[in-house]
Amino acid sequence: MSRVIFHEQSGAMRPVPKLAPGEAVQDTYGRPMRDLRISVTDRCNFRCRYCMPREVYGPDHVFLPRSALLTFEEITRIVRIALTLGIRKIRLTGGEPLMRKELEVLVGMLSGLRTPDGMAPDLTMTTNGALLARKAKALAAAGLQRVTVSLDAMDDAVFQRMSDSGVPVADILGAMDAATEAGLTPLKVNMVVRRRMNDDQILPMARHFRHSGRVLRFIEYMDVGHSNGWRMDEVVTGAEIVQRINAEFPLVPVQAHYRGEVASRWAYADGGGEIGLITSVSQPFCGDCTRLRLSPEGKLFTCLFADHGHDLRELMRTGIGDDILAAHLSGVWLGRTDRYSEQRGQAGASGRDNKIEMSYIGG
Ligand code: GTP
Ligand code: 5AD
Ligand code: SF4
Ligand code: SF4
Repeated sequence: MSRVIFHEQSGAMRPVPKLAPGEAVQDTYGRPMRDLRISVTDRCNFRCRYCMPREVYGPDHVFLPRSALLTFEEITRIVRIALTLGIRKIRLTGGEPLMRKELEVLVGMLSGLRTPDGMAPDLTMTTNGALLARKAKALAAAGLQRVTVSLDAMDDAVFQRMSDSGVPVADILGAMDAATEAGLTPLKVNMVVRRRMNDDQILPMARHFRHSGRVLRFIEYMDVGHSNGWRMDEVVTGAEIVQRINAEFPLVPVQAHYRGEVASRWAYADGGGEIGLITSVSQPFCGDCTRLRLSPEGKLFTCLFADHGHDLRELMRTGIGDDILAAHLSGVWLGRTDRYSEQRGQAGASGRDNKIEMSYIGG
């Protein structure tokens, strides 16, 4: 009886297709399920205005209670099953993932998992860096392979305005050094660019990270969620960013590493390393989107811009077996039709009413 009810809630259970070694479940557009992004908390110690503006996430904001969060055991169970369905890359996000207590314990549990053909999945994390210096060693020892650190400016005043925090840029740069020292490399840096807020920082950031061995990626400001009051005229396109950098440091395009890579790559012609452009607004990449997202309390989202998720937590807490859980996970992917960024701007596609917030589902 309870199973029938839960099938209706998740609306997703379908037989798991037979998969050859290395093969993945494919969605309705033939996109394989390859990346699992796990948001471990909806809390953050920053209040970036494009993500968690203080007017919305003030002292009265109610975050998820601990009992609502998936336990480390529940997360590990989902990942173990997801690996049998094609997942090859695990990214921990938040909110700010390091706000979740003892995250290194979860990392240790996940790093022991293998794909059916015996491979260790890529295990990485996106963080704002504020708590990273003190955690880097423990995370690396537990099996985290690399990190991506968000940093939106070199200038303290601009950075503090963007993040609405009192943290100095030097702290984040120090955290990057600690991560590099701990072996969490290659280290990537994510900069969200917002016109009139921090676009004057594009060149200072490029100058700083050239020749550093760190890959700086510029991200077009997106219309995720509803809190940030997004406007198209605040988007600085990837093409404009390349043009501005190219004027000072000539750039040449570089081939993608793999199908579905989010960032398009450019290298400094003088050998100063490379940068990435994440052009989700001006040149959407839904056609190759292989990402599945798990929310802190166990809902699966098949798109960053989805307006509803598929609840796994309640299913798991009724004691279902691995086979049923696998059928739900694969069913969610088999039924996937999302391509929001490609439809944005087309009639009727923009302005979805209940889009989830980035602080809830992570970058
Ligand atoms: P690696 O190549 O593994 O380092 O990761 P990645 O290129 O997937 O980058 P990362 O996870 O750091 O994502 C960078 C940013 O791209 C995120 O913070 C988002 O702003 C944006 N992004 C990532 N995935 C998606 C997606 O599926 N859709 C859209 N529209 N934007 C995305
Ligand atoms: N547009 C683009 N990127 C965003 N992020 C958060 N909100 C937005 C947005 N509106 C990115 C942050 C960080 C990651 C967690 O998500 O830069 O790198
Ligand atoms: Fe926190 Fe990242 Fe959102 Fe900024 S972008 S508020 S650091 S979750
Ligand atoms: Fe994937 Fe949705 Fe982003 Fe398109 S908008 S790339 S489908 S997450």
